[in-house]
Amino acid sequence: MKKPSVITPPNGKLGVLLPGLGAVATTFVAGCLLARKGLAKPIGSLTQLGTIRLGKRTDNRVPLLKDFLPIATLDQLVFGGWDIFPDNAYESALNAQVLERRHIDPVKEELEQVKAMPGVFYPEYVKRLHGTHIKQGKTKADMVEQLREDIRSFKKNNGCDRLVAIWCGSTEVLVDPSPAHASIEAFEKALRENDPAISNSMMYAWACLKEHVPFANGAPNLTVDIPAMTLLARDMAVSIAGKDFKTGQTLMKTILAPGLKARMLGLDGWFSTNILGNRDGEVLDDPGSFHTKEVSKLGVLDTILQPSVYPELYGNIHHKVRIEYYPPRGDSKEGWDNLDIFGWLGYPMQIKVNFLCRDSILAAPIVLDLALLMDLGQRAGFTGIQEWLSFYFKSPMTAPGLYPEHDLFIQAKKLKNTMRWMMGEDLVTHLGNEYYG
Ligand SMILES: NC(=O)c1ccc[n+]([C@@H]2O[C@H](COP(=O)([O-])OP(=O)(O)OC[C@H]3O[C@@H](n4cnc5c(N)ncnc54)[C@H](O)[C@@H]3O)[C@@H](O)[C@H]2O)c1
Repeated sequence: MKKPSVITPPNGKLGVLLPGLGAVATTFVAGCLLARKGLAKPIGSLTQLGTIRLGKRTDNRVPLLKDFLPIATLDQLVFGGWDIFPDNAYESALNAQVLERRHIDPVKEELEQVKAMPGVFYPEYVKRLHGTHIKQGKTKADMVEQLREDIRSFKKNNGCDRLVAIWCGSTEVLVDPSPAHASIEAFEKALRENDPAISNSMMYAWACLKEHVPFANGAPNLTVDIPAMTLLARDMAVSIAGKDFKTGQTLMKTILAPGLKARMLGLDGWFSTNILGNRDGEVLDDPGSFHTKEVSKLGVLDTILQPSVYPELYGNIHHKVRIEYYPPRGDSKEGWDNLDIFGWLGYPMQIKVNFLCRDSILAAPIVLDLALLMDLGQRAGFTGIQEWLSFYFKSPMTAPGLYPEHDLFIQAKKLKNTMRWMMGEDLVTHLGNEYYG
């Protein structure tokens, strides 16, 4: 990344495009609308509530991030999106059953204005859904053109200065990296030839990048995590990030595992199971979609615990992840974790974590932060993969050849130091008796 000499100010409206207007997307939109009316607090959002220490501790400079960074305000946001069902954001929010009526009704009119544009949907990538609100086109290249037209019309009709897109669509089946993903030319040929290696989410991402719209991927699908997208992002000077919002059990894992490692406590096994009953759970009930999620969730412990560096502590971990679709729970997921750890002289101990979390409540602030920070990065001239935003992802994208950083605390430090660096402030190194601020 090149240090920006100037950051274009966030003037005018920022359009946030959401492919997939389901539970996460509508919880995010409703929350922003409520927060800007002062009816609720954007809890969980670093950009709205977080502060940053600048200079020495004795300087007492600790502004709010939203005052320090030239980011768009909530008032400047305009929301739009696509779905394969025709519901507007109000109907979809009711259907998702995440928010109570007291949080939906006060913003009913604004939510109704967020109407789903027809989606691009080849059902083989999401087997459990039978979309009815979908585009027709002969080839995947035609679909990309239709999406590009949607993007241009949305921008014009809503008077937006800039756009960002955050994929909030369903998890797709695992698509293996293929030669069709290797270059821009191969990808465009594959689009024209309806190659099965091109999934729905990739068509949205391609359309966004072609329209200079930064794209972040909240699901574990490959989507922008292929060479063709990185190359296109570089050519179009646009930013990309992914993948899979870090919420729930994985968030807990990346909080707990660094603590165990910092104290040199050993780990024999980590068994994680979840029950959830929302549409995401239904989609994940399909083994193909679950496998994509499993790959995303399993990678975390290895990079945090470094078994090759600490073989006697972490060389033989049994790590298992299960997700069970259980409709009565709706969006209120329950996760159980059992950690078999060992300490001094090898004595075994156990930790049990029972997290009664709300997935979309944890994901919504991530969507907001990503929208604002991707836009900031774009205005600062950051292009390609935005590793500084790893903090928000279960399976962070990295430059080729680098391993992803999963430790939440290292990610947080990287995020804040990048913010200091881009704004011309000293980095906080914690040397000289310094305290982590
Ligand atoms: N909630 C969380 O904590 C969390 C965490 C990490 C990742 N995610 C991911 O975020 C995504 C959204 O989660 P959710 O709980 O909102 O799911 P959801 O099922 O409520 O919403 C997904 C929406 O995407 C739509 N969709 C599917 N394919 C589409 C396409 N091709 N074009 C347009 N729309 C399409 C579906 O109709 C649905 O309305 C999922 O991929 C999920 O795995 C969620």
